[in-house]
Amino acid sequence: MRAVIFGAGGQVGRALRANLPEGIAVESFAREDIDIASADAVFAVIKNTRPDVVINAAAYTAVDRAEAETDTAFLINAKAPGHIAEACKAVSARLVHMSTDYVFDGTSERPYRPDDPTHPVSAYGRSKLAGEHAVRKTLPDAAIVRTAWVYAAGGANFVVTMLRLMGERDELAVVADQIGTPTHADSLARALWKLAANGAEGVFHYTDAGEASWHGFATAIEEEARALNMIDGCTVRPITTADYPTPAARPARSLLDCTATYAITGPANHWREELRIMLDQQKALS
Ligand SMILES: NC(=O)c1ccc[n+]([C@@H]2O[C@H](COP(=O)([O-])OP(=O)(O)OC[C@H]3O[C@@H](n4cnc5c(N)ncnc54)[C@H](OP(=O)(O)O)[C@@H]3O)[C@@H](O)[C@H]2O)c1
Repeated sequence: MRAVIFGAGGQVGRALRANLPEGIAVESFAREDIDIASADAVFAVIKNTRPDVVINAAAYTAVDRAEAETDTAFLINAKAPGHIAEACKAVSARLVHMSTDYVFDGTSERPYRPDDPTHPVSAYGRSKLAGEHAVRKTLPDAAIVRTAWVYAAGGANFVVTMLRLMGERDELAVVADQIGTPTHADSLARALWKLAANGAEGVFHYTDAGEASWHGFATAIEEEARALNMIDGCTVRPITTADYPTPAARPARSLLDCTATYAITGPANHWREELRIMLDQQKALS
């Protein structure tokens, strides 16, 4: 199988390359190689490489900044995926496109299923939902994979930020009333390759198993990092979303029902197990 990755410099893009299964020849493109907002550049790459499958992990992911830079967010998260889908259609390549739990408003009592009604509460969420629509309009059989709370060793993410702050401070205040599932980019990448290899079609949800608040996640990071001698120790205090206002609203409870995806990929590890794996990797980097 021949694959093309867009967004190869991001957390998921790097994890896709690091977890490449045998038998797949991959050509990967980071932002400096190709700007996905350029339809001409996207078409040229796909026509030249003739992939069987394209995985689009490129995105505008600055959730708060997207409130002010909404046009840019829509260009990269909505218009560009439309170009990618058209280029895939032109060469009969399959497309695996990444999306987010932020297409939901977070008011559901149960985990969201792939066909539940969407209702984003931020510009980022609206731009990602528009991207889903653009992809499906051109390629109804594309795989759209929604995930959540992604982190990777060496990336720019919550875990790495917490480790830095926990090294600098004795106490941290972290939001305790937003619930989701932390997801290691490595486990996500392995699932994406399985979906790609299986020719999966439609909307899929993939996160690691279990659930946490940001406060619960931060507490686990503190405990695990202290056990690995990465930090001395830090008190993690719970606060509410109202105590920590941000430009973008976030879903309060955005758990994803991954049952149908796990039937293809196999079950996911609990997020805390994946956190330990990532912290070992992060420790090796420092
Ligand atoms: N991170 C999360 O918690 C999370 C949660 C749910 C869903 N997702 C989705 O998962 C996917 C991968 O996210 P991630 O965590 O890997 O994000 P990431 O680390 O921010 O990676 C995204 C990559 O896309 C690149 N990019 C941005 N604009 C581009 C453009 N015009 N042309 C080419 N490349 C461009 C970025 O480059 P620069 O860094 O140079 O801008 C970055 O390397 C995205 O679709 C995201 O929406 C992420």
